Order: sequence, then C-alpha cells, then structure tokens
Amino acid sequence: MVAKQRKRQRKLSLRIKSLEFTVDYLLEKPKYEPSDPTGFNEQHHRKHIFRSLIDAIEFDQILETGTFFGNTCGFMADYSGLPIATCEFNERYFTVAQRRLSDFDKISFSLQDSRKFLEATFKTLSAKNCFIYLDAHWGEDLPLWEEIEIILRQYPGEFVIMIDDFCVPGDSDYRYDDYGPGKALDLATFGTLFSRFSLLPFFPSLAGAQETGKQRGCVVLASRGNLEAVKSVDALVAHLPENDS
Ligand SMILES: C[S@@+](CC[C@H](N)C(=O)[O-])C[C@H]1O[C@@H](n2cnc3c(N)ncnc32)[C@H](O)[C@@H]1O
Repeated sequence: MVAKQRKRQRKLSLRIKSLEFTVDYLLEKPKYEPSDPTGFNEQHHRKHIFRSLIDAIEFDQILETGTFFGNTCGFMADYSGLPIATCEFNERYFTVAQRRLSDFDKISFSLQDSRKFLEATFKTLSAKNCFIYLDAHWGEDLPLWEEIEIILRQYPGEFVIMIDDFCVPGDSDYRYDDYGPGKALDLATFGTLFSRFSLLPFFPSLAGAQETGKQRGCVVLASRGNLEAVKSVDALVAHLPENDS
C-alpha cells in the first residue's frame, strides 16, 4: 500500500515538474528564435552534419518523430527551407511547438504516436528523397525498432535517417539512451536490424569531447541512392563491420 502510494506520489511530482518546466519555457521563449545553440541538442558538430547532408543531397522533404518544443524542427526548417512533417504524442508539447513555430508555413504538426505517423505519412507521401530525424524516444516504450522497419518497408524513395541519442562506438564522451535490456540505442541492439536492411552506419567524425551542448551521440543511415553523397560528408565517418566494438 505504502509502495503504491509512493509510486503515485513520484508520478505526480514528475508531472508537476514537467508542467512547470513547460510553462516556464513558454514564458521565457514563446517563439522559436534561431540562435547559435538552438536545435540538435545545442551541438555544433551535429548541426554541421545536418547542414552538410542538406548541402550534399537534394532532399524534398523532412520528417521528424518527437517534436517536443520544436527547436530542432525550427532549425531544420530555417536552414533547409524544406517542407517538414513532425509528430508528437504529448498534447501539451504538441500545442507548445505549434505556437512557437507558427511563423513557419511549411511545417505540418501531427499529434500522434510516431509509428502511426510514419505509416500514415508514407501512404500519401509523394516526396522522392527524405531526411528523417528519429527522436521519439523518451520512456519505457521505445518505438525506434518499429520506426526503422516502417521506413524500410513502406517508403520506396531515397532517404537519410539520423537517430538521436545513439551510442557512438568507442567514444564514451558521446552520451546515449539505454532503457534496459534490449532497449539500448547501440549497435549491439540495432546492428542486426541495420545489417538486415544493408544499412551502413555512419557516426560523427568529431570526438565527443570536442562536441558542444548535450553531447548526445547519433547514427546516420542512408539508402543506396544517397550512399555516395553521405560518404563524401566529412562530418561523418562510416563504421565498417571490422570496427565493431
Ligand atoms: C528528446 S524529445 C525530442 C526533441 C526534439 N526532437 C528536438 O530536438 O527539439 C522526445 C520527444 O518525443 C516524444 N515522444 C516520445 N515517444 C513518442 C512516440 N512514440 N510518438 C511520438 N512522440 C513521442 C516525447 O513526448 C518528447 O517530446
């Protein structure tokens, strides 16, 4: 009984904290404003990777899972000028992001689970080459495996996928998400899925210790038609199978 009560109290206190954080954020930053740190976890090299990919490849669409307050979405819209479809399953964050990014007319927002969003999007999407940012991981339910399968099975076009919070092999200065057994964002967990779809993983070429902001790791995966262009991006380095660690 006491344990149950404690659990409920902990949940409630987390909800209050999240609510306070959201209200404070909205009061402080009611609109998305481009700035040096804003977007991609305030990471300079990550932004460099994104810019290099946008410069190297003729994308015609960006997809994002996990909008949160819209900072990365705003940065991507600002730099690329491309149409963006983004999804968020938390109603409050969805509304905040919509308000903060209301000056952008090429962003469409979906209040949806990321898997449903991707499935629905691919039913009607006419874009031929997509940059896809997968960042909807924040809790027990990790949709990443299914998100990748949906993309590979249901999107016939060319793509580059960037997954945030992914372990960079051999560089512990980059942080990553680990939600327990079978739910770590690393090659030990996702390597077989990448191999099954013949996806060569690319990682940041800069050492984690030199990255700014939150120093989150990432992995970049490309379809066959985009592979050579991604190889030419010096902000990234391919991870060949013999480098497995
Ligand atoms: C790390 S934050 C995203 C940050 C955002 N991409 C940025 O860079 O500014 C993760 C977000 O994903 C959302 N999320 C988690 N699981 C989700 C799911 N299955 N479908 C949609 N959104 C989800 C969370 O509510 C949270 O707002």
